[in-house]
Amino acid sequence: MDCYHIEGGVPLCGEYRVKGAKNSVLPILAAAVACPGIHEINDCPLIDDVFVMEEILNSLGASTSFDRHCLTVDTGNIENTVVSSLMMSRMRSSVFLMGSLLARCGEATVHRPGGCRIGRRPIDIHIEGLRQMGFKVEFFDDEIRCSGRCRGGRVRLPYPSVGATENLMMAALSSQEETVIENCALEPEIADLQGFMRNCGFDVAGAGTGTITVRGPAGSITGGKGPARRDTMYFIVEDRIEAATYMAAVLATGGRAVFRNIRAGLMESVLQVFERMGAKIRTFADIIEIASPAELQSPGIVVTAPFPGFPTDCQPQLLTLCTAARGLSTIREEVFESRFTHKKELAKMGANIEICGKNAIIRGSTPLHGETVSAADLRGGAALVLAGLSAEGKTIIRDIHHIDRGYENFDKGLTQLGGVIERRKSD
Ligand code: EPZ
Repeated sequence: MDCYHIEGGVPLCGEYRVKGAKNSVLPILAAAVACPGIHEINDCPLIDDVFVMEEILNSLGASTSFDRHCLTVDTGNIENTVVSSLMMSRMRSSVFLMGSLLARCGEATVHRPGGCRIGRRPIDIHIEGLRQMGFKVEFFDDEIRCSGRCRGGRVRLPYPSVGATENLMMAALSSQEETVIENCALEPEIADLQGFMRNCGFDVAGAGTGTITVRGPAGSITGGKGPARRDTMYFIVEDRIEAATYMAAVLATGGRAVFRNIRAGLMESVLQVFERMGAKIRTFADIIEIASPAELQSPGIVVTAPFPGFPTDCQPQLLTLCTAARGLSTIREEVFESRFTHKKELAKMGANIEICGKNAIIRGSTPLHGETVSAADLRGGAALVLAGLSAEGKTIIRDIHHIDRGYENFDKGLTQLGGVIERRKSD
């Protein structure tokens, strides 16, 4: 089990190119199962969640190969419609295979998905949506067996769930009737999935609005033959959460940096909070420059919400940042039930944080000192790295496999900006 050794106190400066988005490439890799063909996925981040998804696709009969950041997936031969419980337990996004297997084969067997310890993370919205679309969904212990075909018509999500929106978009491909999905999530990754599906020749429209319409391909399951073969090439949208994490590291260390391959429109709510804290931000096309003020100010109250609100995936990083901000800050986590997982470790480093229900109240600025701490999940782990970079002295972060799930070579990227961070075998 590797760990990070960090020497804090060095301002991060320089330039960084943002990579492809984890939360876009995972549903897109699942969607490739719905379209028999050779799919060249460019700007694919080399992260553990992608490698797990690759294993799942291989277990279904797809073949895969990497050439640097290009992952080629051949889904011409899908012969298995069961995703093992071991695979499912390793990553929540495996739940996307329900929709794409139903679209391709008319059946899917999955298990309750795993994921970060950030909340219950049920899949009731996925299941209820599939049933409303006309699919048969049965539970046998933790095994979930789905079959049948979409009958078209209207489906309304009770909550704009990102994963449920994506799963139902794929499942709706199994019918030539039009399916209208209402109260959809608005995240940019949904639009990227739609772009990939249209690239496959599927009739999908409306991503980015609350209503998405899908009409399955001619000869879809209802026609008995299944979707026609098509080879595609696609470029994954940039990772707005990776960008926000690195920008928070620049602010946490009093630095200044230029980020390439990132459009401000994908992260307006995050940039607004950073500016409230005193950051100087300039944007041009797909470049963002950010400079830290002499002293960060409290952003006041920040509430996480579905896009375009402040993203829950940036909440742990902001919690760390607020320890260095002058004044009292309040962060209210409205999306997941228990996403203040790294508060205890931050307190060991000197932070002054009170958790009251959904609210974290942070008294700043409190200087942090280096400690040995452990990551408990992906974004909380990244937030501990930010704390180590800004703390006085040395910090060791254990269990960094959580971080490897969603950040490619996080230590190398931070070193490129001048950070003193080294990956070592666990002591
Ligand atoms: C996606 O997870 C992201 N993961 C998450 O990123 C992100 O935090 C989340 O969307 C919200 O933006 C990927 O895209 C792979 P949801 P997802 O369904 O789809 C509840 C990261 O760090 N809910 O929008 O699981 C759920 O419990 C990860 O990169 C139900 O109750 O999120 C949560 O409280 C973490 N029933 C809320 O809705 C359901 O059937 C939002 O979940 C589904 C969800």
